[in-house]
Amino acid sequence: MATIPDVRGQGHDRDLLHACFDHMRAKEASLLWCNARVVAPDFYKHLGLQTIGPEFDIEGIGPHYVMWKAVV
Ligand SMILES: CC(C)(COP(=O)(O)OP(=O)(O)OC[C@H]1O[C@@H](n2cnc3c(N)ncnc32)[C@H](O)[C@@H]1OP(=O)(O)O)[C@@H](O)C(=O)NCCC(=O)NCCS
Repeated sequence: MATIPDVRGQGHDRDLLHACFDHMRAKEASLLWCNARVVAPDFYKHLGLQTIGPEFDIEGIGPHYVMWKAVV
């Protein structure tokens, strides 16, 4: 997930994730997870996700955490 630098901080990713949460509810899906780059957990935590497990490396991309959220 990324927004182009010129429009960061304007709520676009927040709106996109909330649209994902709404889509999940419509499909009765309740668990969201992702691999988050180590620079991103604070952003995802702000939107209700939490980390699980240790930092790990994705070859060629870099260090990540698994993050998840129960969507109800
Ligand atoms: C991380 C990223 C996707 C955020 O996108 P964005 O469009 O700037 O985020 P938004 O403007 O929608 O921010 C949503 C909320 O998160 C907060 N937020 C944004 N970045 C944050 C950060 N690094 N730490 C904590 N909170 C953050 C905002 O203040 C905003 O709060 P609000 O809802 O109270 O107003 C963007 O900075 C980016 O593209 N970074 C580079 C690519 C990257 O690292 N992606 C993650 C890969 S897993």
